[in-house]
Amino acid sequence: MAVRAEFHELLLTRVRLLTEDSVGLTFLVPAELTQQYQFLPGQYLTLQARIDGQRLLRPYSIASGLDQPSRLEVGIRCVEGGRFSTYANRLSAGIMLKVMTPQGLFTASPATTPGVSRRMLIVAAGSGITPCLSIIKSLLASDPNASFTLILGNRTAKHVMFADDINALQHRYPERLAVINVLSRESTGSPLLEGHIDSQRLSGFVDAGLLPADGWHAAYCCGPPAMQDEVVPWLSAIGLAQENIHRELFVTPDQQPGEAVAGLHSTSVAATNSDTKSDNEEVPLTIHIDGVARRISVRGKSETLLAAATRQGIDLPYSCAGGLCSTCRCKLLAGEVSMDANYSLASWEVENGYILACQSRASDNSNDSDNDKNRIEIDFDAT
Ligand code: FES
Repeated sequence: MAVRAEFHELLLTRVRLLTEDSVGLTFLVPAELTQQYQFLPGQYLTLQARIDGQRLLRPYSIASGLDQPSRLEVGIRCVEGGRFSTYANRLSAGIMLKVMTPQGLFTASPATTPGVSRRMLIVAAGSGITPCLSIIKSLLASDPNASFTLILGNRTAKHVMFADDINALQHRYPERLAVINVLSRESTGSPLLEGHIDSQRLSGFVDAGLLPADGWHAAYCCGPPAMQDEVVPWLSAIGLAQENIHRELFVTPDQQPGEAVAGLHSTSVAATNSDTKSDNEEVPLTIHIDGVARRISVRGKSETLLAAATRQGIDLPYSCAGGLCSTCRCKLLAGEVSMDANYSLASWEVENGYILACQSRASDNSNDSDNDKNRIEIDFDAT
């Protein structure tokens, strides 16, 4: 489902306190926007607000199942220093907010082969439960052959976001949803369930008979980078193919939760280069978007293509500005760029010329005498 990333004003109909530091915000999708806000379980919405005079955008995962297409709820944990999450946790129902159409590649598809059983493993921590909840809800409701084991990490039981929803699903589908809660700052009476989720603990679950060692159709992992660095290799080691291991990052490995990503407004140079003239040299940049070609320039390596467009008044789609969400995905038609980071494009997309505008800078070769390399051309209309 390729839906153009665009903002619409949606009514915030409900603010639900999930834990002492997190809320669920529900937006009403009017009938005329139903098509635009169709989503796949696991996708996210980007919210936009002006806070202290600055326009801020933040992606938040949808927690709703596919059975609620007109009421989309996102989960937001208030993180220390997080300007948007602090703002969002103080909102009241009844206001209009700018909300981008659903985006994201961390998704699960409905069953394609009826009658084939699909056993899926979900490993989530903290607010990482949000997109996973959408996947669990949607697939349990739509596919009688889908079943899940959810391993869920939190600090304490009081910090479990969507605890009521998870309990309700367990009661409704006792044969098809198993939940293993792991708490890092609360005694559970079982050492196996206390601490952080890592490969050793997962192997411990297998040894204890809580988790089958094989037979998984797919796995979904959403939580801190350190957890994913443990979980993903473990999933490979038990035989899951790479294409069946899905992962979603909310922060980059060197970013603290709530910390703004520097990508959009940064003027820092990713690679050290003492030739500052080259770093700032204007490289022609053509941007195709909505069927129109816009011609601007990018300052050598000192700014990203997204930052160059923003500086010159072109509104490109973006959300995280950190290489995480792929909202700024476009196709490179000419020239050469280097990406600072990529946490969201699949290898096939990179091999086929797709780049992240928020992470791409003119590479050294963009200034050589070869005419084709001496300009950059990108296309946001390519799917
Ligand atoms: S805006 Fe999220 S990857 Fe570029």
